[in-house]
Amino acid sequence: MSTAIEINKRRTFGIISHPDAGKTTLTEKLLLFGGAIQVAGAVKSNKIKKTATSDFMEIEKQRGISVATSVMTFEYRDKLINILDTPGHKDFAEDTYRTLTAVDSVIMVVDSVKGVEAQTRRLMEVCAMRKTPVIVFINKMDREGRDAFDLLDEIEKELKIRVRPLSFPINRGSLFKGVYNLHKQSLNLFKPSTTKVSDEVMAITDLSDPALNAQVGERDADNLRNDVEMVEAVYDPFDVEEYLKGNLAPVFFGSAVNNFGVQELLDTFIDIAPEPRGRETDTRFVEPSEKKMTGFIFKIHANLDPKHRDRIAFLRVVSGLFQRHTMYHHVRLNKDFRFSTPVTFMAQSKNIVEEAYPGDVVGLYDTGNFKIGDVLTEGEDFRIKGIPSFSPEIFKELVNTDPMKSKQLEKGISQLTDEGVAQLFTQQPGNRKFVGTVGELQFEVIQYRLLHEYGASCRFQPISMTRACWLTSDDQNKLDEFVRFKSTSIVQDKDGNLVYLAPSDWFLKMERENNPAIQFHFNSEFKTESLSDY
Ligand code: G4P
Repeated sequence: MSTAIEINKRRTFGIISHPDAGKTTLTEKLLLFGGAIQVAGAVKSNKIKKTATSDFMEIEKQRGISVATSVMTFEYRDKLINILDTPGHKDFAEDTYRTLTAVDSVIMVVDSVKGVEAQTRRLMEVCAMRKTPVIVFINKMDREGRDAFDLLDEIEKELKIRVRPLSFPINRGSLFKGVYNLHKQSLNLFKPSTTKVSDEVMAITDLSDPALNAQVGERDADNLRNDVEMVEAVYDPFDVEEYLKGNLAPVFFGSAVNNFGVQELLDTFIDIAPEPRGRETDTRFVEPSEKKMTGFIFKIHANLDPKHRDRIAFLRVVSGLFQRHTMYHHVRLNKDFRFSTPVTFMAQSKNIVEEAYPGDVVGLYDTGNFKIGDVLTEGEDFRIKGIPSFSPEIFKELVNTDPMKSKQLEKGISQLTDEGVAQLFTQQPGNRKFVGTVGELQFEVIQYRLLHEYGASCRFQPISMTRACWLTSDDQNKLDEFVRFKSTSIVQDKDGNLVYLAPSDWFLKMERENNPAIQFHFNSEFKTESLSDY
């Protein structure tokens, strides 16, 4: 089959949500539709339900499970769908940001009772930065949730994206009767069921059709007519180009646990979601249709088995054909590597893969050669753009508690931060190490893994820093002066970039005002300054 056909066949996306909104449930239902699993319950919830931070085995279990479910591939209609899993726990949010660099679109799950929640907001900012097309699924319509128009308003306002409902609910909670699909002009009646695998849909092209009254009762039929009239008046018609540019999010209503509305979501996804896209590099744009293979590492996962120190690096293929036993050029190390056991993932099982196309994700066994953002090519040198680090939220100093094991600690923290578990900042002179994360849990994971995998003991000492800003300036003298003057707050990231650690937003604001010649960036790629929360 030609490469163009293979590319066109693929859809690579991620499902994102605030924990508990229903991401795992929706993933499972999608896999059921695709025949990738036969029974509900096969996809384990990959979140740590209780955040008992002392329960390290639970953390390790969670990490193990998420290897198996990191990428789920299934076929539906004539498409090959890759779902890239994102961790449910908020302390693993950094992993999610990274995974979003490897998808071409996302489905965002919003809980109809809770509406837009903190993590949804964050994730959406990352999508907005990369102009990722988003489809919204408002879940749990079987519960006494919020008014549909209120939810749509909230999504527009809070997530700063225009929305266009493509289905509209008839009531909610115990009175929920189903949805009217505005796109397909059909009525989908709600029958709670966790086992059925298709929606029972009835065509009602004209809402004045009395058949509607017969189906849902006169009052609800009238309400639906009014609601649909309102939708048509308030929202612009759905424009797929605007969706593909990341400006407009189509919205569906349903109930994942009842498998309701999932098929219409999936069918629309197949119709509109983008095929694998190219990626911008620091030298040129790489098109998926190019003959030569290009791919980048977006996630690294430690092996659960302590006897095997190796890790799995996840490669997103961007262009060309990836082949087993073929030499590829590791740009950062300027070294060539051949992979004899690259794997793909089907639901829970791993299989050795002979070849992979743009949009696919391949797992590469790694003994420490990869870090997030690394690029494999057939010889060309460039870096893929759009895999920035964001400012962590919690910073602590790493203190060595076993001076005999300094080397192990050094190696361990370097490798763990290569995996993207946390960010490492170093201060010279003195070689002080600061670790930044998005959640407290990460410190415990790191401490535990340093001890168990590297035999190094450490503790984390709180420091009063709240935000990292990457520094640049056209005026080298001014920058040098600032670095000298603020030496206690200046560190370097793993790539040697200068970073200012601000004790508070107030301080940061003041420093920005006092130092107009210096640019303070909120991510390591210096592209946007708009991530207000970071
Ligand atoms: P997450 O991955 O986004 O964290 O959410 P997950 O799918 O685990 O769902 C969180 C809870 O919400 C689960 O209940 C799940 O059954 C429930 N849920 C998902 N979709 C719906 C829906 O459409 N309606 C209703 N009423 N509930 C839904 P749980 O009690 O936490 O877990 P479980 O014991 O049911 O697995």
